[in-house]
Amino acid sequence: MMIDIHSHILPKADHGSHNLEESLKQLITASKYGVKGIVATPHFYPFNDSIEKFLKRRDKAFDELSAANSTGIKIYKGAEVRLTTGLSSLKHIKKLAFENTNYLLLEMPSSTTWNNILLNEIIKLQSLGLTIIIAHIERYSSNQINKLMEFDVLTQINAYSLFSPIKWFRIRKYIKSNVVTFIASDSHIYNHFFAYKYLKKSHNMIGSKFNTYMNNAKNILSL
Ligand SMILES: [Fe+2]
Repeated sequence: MMIDIHSHILPKADHGSHNLEESLKQLITASKYGVKGIVATPHFYPFNDSIEKFLKRRDKAFDELSAANSTGIKIYKGAEVRLTTGLSSLKHIKKLAFENTNYLLLEMPSSTTWNNILLNEIIKLQSLGLTIIIAHIERYSSNQINKLMEFDVLTQINAYSLFSPIKWFRIRKYIKSNVVTFIASDSHIYNHFFAYKYLKKSHNMIGSKFNTYMNNAKNILSL
């Protein structure tokens, strides 16, 4: 069973899907490749949004898509939260965790250096009881990953990055050093799911690790 823990499928909830039609196209494609469950993780940017406004927008989009969804894929509520200084002190921060769990998908800022005040936010989030999943770690250098691993975080790679020679080089390294926990689509458009077509074959690029990562995803959703 394929479970996707990182996706931008909700209509108009962020810059992923522009309307219901695009969202349905994403779901139909995902279903075609065997995805049975998807966590919808629209972007939450603390510097230009409030959690209350975000949740209202996300839940409305979730209801709209759920009502129109006939694929049988179960959709779960989540968010992809940009790490910023002060994030842990936001009042409703725990509501951004995946539905009925304490797992929070965190996106690092794209700058190459992360200062200690920012990195300390991870510890503060963890002290609230949240388990942190760092999104698409193949975007970050070995030095950055080593820094992150000091914080006892879980990590995710994007399936489509396996097909980029530069990213694949990094991913192979990270898989070998056992720092990867999950693989997901990070789908903004329907064709991001195409990667799954190749991954579900027995002789795929990451071998049995694919099943391990899928089992990890099932476990956090208690499936
Ligand atoms: Fe994303």
